[in-house]
Amino acid sequence: MSEAIIQVKHLEKRIKGKTIIDDLSFDLYRGEVLGFLGPNGAGKTTTMRMMLGLISITSGDVIIDGHSVKNAKEKALGRVGGIVENPEMYKFLSGYDNLKHFRRMYEDVPDSRIDEVVELVKLKDAIHRKVKTYSLGMRQRLGIAQALLHRPDVLILDEPTNGLDPAGIRELRDYLRKLAKEENMAIFISSHILSEMELICDRILIIQNGKITSTQEIRETTEEVLSVLFEVEPKTKALEVLHQLPDLQVREEKGWLVVEAKREDIPQINAALVKANIQVYAIRRTQKSLEDRFLELTEGSVVQ
Ligand SMILES: Nc1ncnc2c1ncn2[C@@H]1O[C@H](COP(=O)(O)OP(=O)(O)O)[C@@H](O)[C@H]1O
Ligand SMILES: [Mg+2]
Repeated sequence: MSEAIIQVKHLEKRIKGKTIIDDLSFDLYRGEVLGFLGPNGAGKTTTMRMMLGLISITSGDVIIDGHSVKNAKEKALGRVGGIVENPEMYKFLSGYDNLKHFRRMYEDVPDSRIDEVVELVKLKDAIHRKVKTYSLGMRQRLGIAQALLHRPDVLILDEPTNGLDPAGIRELRDYLRKLAKEENMAIFISSHILSEMELICDRILIIQNGKITSTQEIRETTEEVLSVLFEVEPKTKALEVLHQLPDLQVREEKGWLVVEAKREDIPQINAALVKANIQVYAIRRTQKSLEDRFLELTEGSVVQ
């Protein structure tokens, strides 16, 4: 894989003696969309605020392109664009005037770049209207336009799908994936909605109670345990055969035998059945969705 543009190292945040972020470490690479998934109160916004230098870091550090957010904040954040929670907007100004205002924070953002980002987030028709007339989705898109103004290498977006309708989410997804793949940007995006993350991201970190509890590769599933359904006769004899195979979990469900196995084990299971003269009528693979896994992982956890 390419170099890590962000390294989060043993990051901690304590507020009034309470540990909110607890020893968080991960890397973000160029060209990838990394998801940060967790229930409300898990610590996503707090982590992103520390990464963007908006609040202090209790211990640990965030290294961006070799620079420490703790000790060299300006250098570290120069190539980063971000929106955290509801982006600050001037409601009585137009979208366009808001962008012109934010442009002042950076050098070298010509008018043509403003037009470009407006086009990208599809706000062209509304850009000269006052922001107070915008829907939540339009405000989110204006926030993303603002984060992109200075052509950052890294984008940090806190729940950017909030307030978007399904079509808007699809557009955002296509756009973020394009930025990552074609511009080699690194994108870190949080959400509490699993199905969205699964579509947008290459990799997902799951955060609970301030800790990363799991990392999921979305596009690599070969090592994954699948539920495989077998339609066989006679079932009792088939169960006996399968119980003799090592490390295999088998159960009967709605007339099917359900086997938990890796993809590569399926031919051997089938061969064992056939060898024992069992009639195999169908084999069906069902992959556990991220949602199943997320619910398994977060079951019983306290949501604050
Ligand atoms: N300034 C603060 N003072 C006290 N507690 C806070 C503060 N900011 C966040 N928290 C607590 O930290 C936890 C994580 O919050 P947050 O980062 O907003 O989670 P998320 O964005 O995942 O919903 C929550 O329990 C929240 O109440
Ligand atoms: Mg949040």
